[in-house]
Amino acid sequence: MKLSRRITEQPPYLFAEIDRARDAAKARGLDVVSMGIADPDLPPPEWLFDLLSEEIRRPGYHRYPDYRGLPEFLRAVTGWMEERFSVGQLDPQSEVITLLGGKEGVAHVAWALCDPGDVALIPEPAYPVYNTNCVYAGAEVYFLGLTRENDFLPALGSVPEEVARRASVIYVNYPNNPTGACAPREFYPDLLDFARKYDIAVLADNPYTEIYFDELDRPRSILEFPGAKEICLEFHSFSKTFNMTGWRIGWAVGNAKLVNALLTVKSNVDSGQFHAIQMALARALSHPERDSFLAANRRRIKARRDEVAAVLDSMGIWHPNPQATLYFWCRLPEGYDDDVRFASELLEKEGFVVGPGSAYGPHGKGYFRLSLTTSEEDIRKGLSKLKHFLGR
Ligand SMILES: Cc1ncc(COP(=O)(O)O)c(C=O)c1O
Repeated sequence: MKLSRRITEQPPYLFAEIDRARDAAKARGLDVVSMGIADPDLPPPEWLFDLLSEEIRRPGYHRYPDYRGLPEFLRAVTGWMEERFSVGQLDPQSEVITLLGGKEGVAHVAWALCDPGDVALIPEPAYPVYNTNCVYAGAEVYFLGLTRENDFLPALGSVPEEVARRASVIYVNYPNNPTGACAPREFYPDLLDFARKYDIAVLADNPYTEIYFDELDRPRSILEFPGAKEICLEFHSFSKTFNMTGWRIGWAVGNAKLVNALLTVKSNVDSGQFHAIQMALARALSHPERDSFLAANRRRIKARRDEVAAVLDSMGIWHPNPQATLYFWCRLPEGYDDDVRFASELLEKEGFVVGPGSAYGPHGKGYFRLSLTTSEEDIRKGLSKLKHFLGR
């Protein structure tokens, strides 16, 4: 049986590999703790369950969903965007579409915008889904390294003219997975100028807008910047906002032509999200306890962040202090240079799962990622396993 080159020429999906190694370690009897995968351990708000159980009883909701999304959902998310960010007015009928989670959106958009021979500009280390799907769509990927020296921002001026001219898309993701970096306000006008100059669609992946630790410097939407709607599509998700990665719901918002192109791909691939889930989330966005839930969630993650930062510092492990996201991007301790080997030995010997940096792209070499989506008890256990492993 022949498998396509999409399957045979791609490395296995990182997180599926991590799961496999973790399960093998457990099967050997190790007490395994994971800070490798970003899947919140904290629950969604209790009232969201009530909303879903009310909506699930509506008879009309059990048929195929609308492709673009339930109008109530589209109005609710555009309303949220207008309230939370300074984006001006958005048209729920043409400038937004429901997604089966952000992952589905950032994957399918490559199919909508990339042809063989096009270049896809991908700052890395990055969420691996951008690269894989641009390659699936036949595009040539040009990586822009995010490093400590460039504050984890892509050096747009370093893209050769010939490459920029062939580029059809650039992905950006701030607050960033895996580095935890945020982009300063000044970054966006430069990015938009660059994209306009070469007629490149900007794909802003933005699932961490509500996981921030500084009330005075909250993550932005790219749509806040003048002219962004002409060339940008932004991807949002409820997965991390409400601790509901299993529900699979998000939205893409921005340029109507880009939204429509994504809708065309999606309507040939999936049939939209269950209306009861869309309606529960539409109502969640105007729920009186929305903000108190979000604030409490942030406080809990911030306390974890502070504790992890202190322990890493005590071990002499270099890391930026994340102002948003769920991630610590850690430089390998002295004496280590192979992150994949580091991560697999840490798992084999101690039963502690971390994400090897180079799995997120070539500039991830020499780093590992820790995710704050594990209970406080397991975080402490995991970090003491790390200490033991390093003999510190
Ligand atoms: C940068 C980034 N984009 C998108 C996603 C996908 O999130 P979801 O598909 O759960 O909305 C993730 C999940 O970890 C992510 O880190």
